Amino acid sequence: MGIDPRSFVVEERLSGVARIIGVTGSKGGIGKSVIASTLALALADRCHRVGLFDLDFTSPSDHVVLGVDRSFPAEKFGIDPHQVHDIDMMSVAFFAGAAPVPLRGEATTNALLELLAITRWADQNVLILDMPPGLGDTSLDVIHLLPRLEFLLIGNGSRVVIESVRRAVRLLTELDVPLLGLLENMPRGEEGTVARLAAEFDVPFLGVVPADEGLEKALGDVEALRQSAVYGAVAALAEGLL
Ligand SMILES: Nc1ncnc2c1ncn2[C@@H]1O[C@H](COP(=O)(O)OP(=O)(O)OP(=O)(O)O)[C@@H](O)[C@H]1O
Ligand SMILES: [Mg+2]
Repeated sequence: MGIDPRSFVVEERLSGVARIIGVTGSKGGIGKSVIASTLALALADRCHRVGLFDLDFTSPSDHVVLGVDRSFPAEKFGIDPHQVHDIDMMSVAFFAGAAPVPLRGEATTNALLELLAITRWADQNVLILDMPPGLGDTSLDVIHLLPRLEFLLIGNGSRVVIESVRRAVRLLTELDVPLLGLLENMPRGEEGTVARLAAEFDVPFLGVVPADEGLEKALGDVEALRQSAVYGAVAALAEGLL
C-alpha cells in the first residue's frame, strides 16, 4: 500500500482538518455509529466545523442516525461531502444506496484509499471517523494512512466486551495511536468496570452514556435526537474532547 500513489494525496486532502478522531470499539453493536453521529451533531450545534466520514463500508449507519437520504455527492476535481445539519458528511451509502457492498481484504483497502484520495474536505476543526467493528482491515489501514489519527474507544462492562476493550487498548498503545479516552455506552456488567480499566491503562475515562429507551424512535430525526439522553450525555463531553 505504501507505493500506491493515492496514499501521497491523502494528507494533502486533509490538510485543512485540524483533528481526526476515530470512534472505535472492539466489538460490534456497541454504539460507535450512534456516538460518532451524535458527537458530530453536538459539535456542529456548538459552531464547530465538523466532518463525519462513515468508514463502515459494508454496513454504513450514520446516514440512518442523522436521517440523511442523499445520492451522489457533487463531483468536480474530486468529490464534495454532503452538507447535512451543518456537518460535512461522506458515506459509501451515498454511492451504493441500499445495495449490498460486499468488500474484503484488498478491496476494502482500495475503497478506503479511493475515498480518502477523492474527497475534498473543507477546513474543519475535527473530522470524525465512524469505524467498522473490531480493529481489522480498515482500522489498521487508517492508522497507517493517517498518522495524526486519535481514537475514542467505546465500551461497556459486559464481560465479553471488556475483554476485547482491553485487547484494543493494548493494541492501540503498542501501535502508538493516541487514545483520547474510554467512553462507556449502554452500561452493562458490573458498575465501574470501564472506569477501572481506563485507570489501569492510564487512559482518560470520559463518562457514561446511558441506555436510552427512546433512542430508537429518535433515529433519523435530528430534532428528536437533540432531545435524547444520548445527545445530552455526548454534548456534555463534546467540548472537552477538542
Ligand atoms: N445509548 C444508547 N441507548 C439506547 N440504544 C443505543 C445506545 N447506543 C446505541 N444504541 C442502539 O444500539 C444499536 C447499535 O448501535 P450502533 O449501530 O451505533 O453500534 P455500532 O457499534 O456502530 O455497530 P456496528 O459494530 O455494527 O457498526 C442500535 O440499534 C442503536 O440505536
Ligand atoms: Mg456502526
